[in-house]
Amino acid sequence: MWGGRFTDRPDAIMEEINVSIDVDRHLYAQDIAASKAHAAMLAAQGIITANDAKNIGKGLDTILSEIGAGKFTFKRALEDIHMNVESRLAELIGPAAGRLHTARSRNDQVATDFRLYVRDVLDETDAALASFQRALVDRALEHAETVMPGFTHLQTAQPVTFGHHLMAYVEMAARDRGRFQDARKRLNESPLGAAALAGTSFPIDRHATAKKLGFDRPMANSLDAVSDRDFVLETLSAASICAVHLSRFAEEIVIWTSPLVGLVRLSDKFTTGSSIMPQKRNPDAAELVRAKTGRVIGALNGLLIVMKGLPLAYQKDMQEDKQGAMEGFAALSLAIRAMTGMVRDIVPEQDRMRAAAGEGYATATDLADWLVRTLKMPFRDAHHVTGKIVGLAAKAGVALHELPLKEMQAVEPKISRDALAVLSVESSVKSRTSYGGTAPKNVRAQAKAWLKRLEKE
Ligand code: ARG
Repeated sequence: MWGGRFTDRPDAIMEEINVSIDVDRHLYAQDIAASKAHAAMLAAQGIITANDAKNIGKGLDTILSEIGAGKFTFKRALEDIHMNVESRLAELIGPAAGRLHTARSRNDQVATDFRLYVRDVLDETDAALASFQRALVDRALEHAETVMPGFTHLQTAQPVTFGHHLMAYVEMAARDRGRFQDARKRLNESPLGAAALAGTSFPIDRHATAKKLGFDRPMANSLDAVSDRDFVLETLSAASICAVHLSRFAEEIVIWTSPLVGLVRLSDKFTTGSSIMPQKRNPDAAELVRAKTGRVIGALNGLLIVMKGLPLAYQKDMQEDKQGAMEGFAALSLAIRAMTGMVRDIVPEQDRMRAAAGEGYATATDLADWLVRTLKMPFRDAHHVTGKIVGLAAKAGVALHELPLKEMQAVEPKISRDALAVLSVESSVKSRTSYGGTAPKNVRAQAKAWLKRLEKE
């Protein structure tokens, strides 16, 4: 493969550690697209003949359809996708194939291929997140008034609506999409033509190949072009944050479906059983979304560690950039799709939610707010008075609204019957009308605005 300089074959172990075709074969479409752009540019610049370029282009098209149809034999001895394609091209068109590698190196080739690949991942992820948002918004509109307990410290805090809770994830997904879109902007420059590391003596047109491949411009520095993988790191960082969002949601589903909690149900479609315990209904999909997050973060960590000690320019270590990243991207894609499926599937247990929303004196803040509003009490005093009342109710083993008014008045004589009206969970959520608050009319307005936004995309 290396021509004149070598007289012996590589050791079997050398070949085994060096080979990357099992992973980089997934870059075949990008590799061929980049080669076609390169060959056309070489001809346009008078570096190879138009006839050679035509044959190279045709040969590459044949290879593309061979691989697409599963009729291509990948050879491990040829190391990677670049050598496999070039060697097959020589079989197909003869010596002209050898002109394709003029003014380029596998270093700029692989950097170009992987940028194109990650760009596709970014676009697919954005579309998948948009579907996830659509599912959330649909369900939020359906449940804008469904009261559920809101938690802090996993203790019942204040009533919220199920729709409001779902809309929180719409916002998170929007920021995730923004991060992926930002990464795409920085990624979208072409390394092609940087050659091995120093550029080339041939009069190539990097602007032309960049344009042909949908890049905004060529990368400005040849050393940087072949040796950075920050576009993968940035995408994996955004993917990790996104996966953490999904994982938190998945954890909530695991908690909510526990018989101890029972706030939601998943249908048989998103539930598994046990091989020994006939009664079991396990939220495996949610658990696996939680676990896939480990793979995504693992991929990010793995590549950060690969890159951290590498001097410029290309080092073979960088061949290890693809496997973990591809696995991480696949894990995220599956996690997004599984969460979208669960969002569409989930059924809130509305009676249980409503009852749980009122447990644990969840409307105590509403009573304190009433004291502030009606009796003009400073909030700190109202908090103290309400705390005493909650204490009495807890001692009597009753809910706040079940405590006789007389007992409340023993703590604060000015409390009137009106105060009892604010103690229901419905009136509590209805009162939270501040911007971004959980009031059903807010939730409905937010969901409708998002629906419009998503339809316009
Ligand atoms: N298979 C290699 C990779 O993925 C391609 C670049 C090889 N370049 C080299 N100088 N050995 O990184």
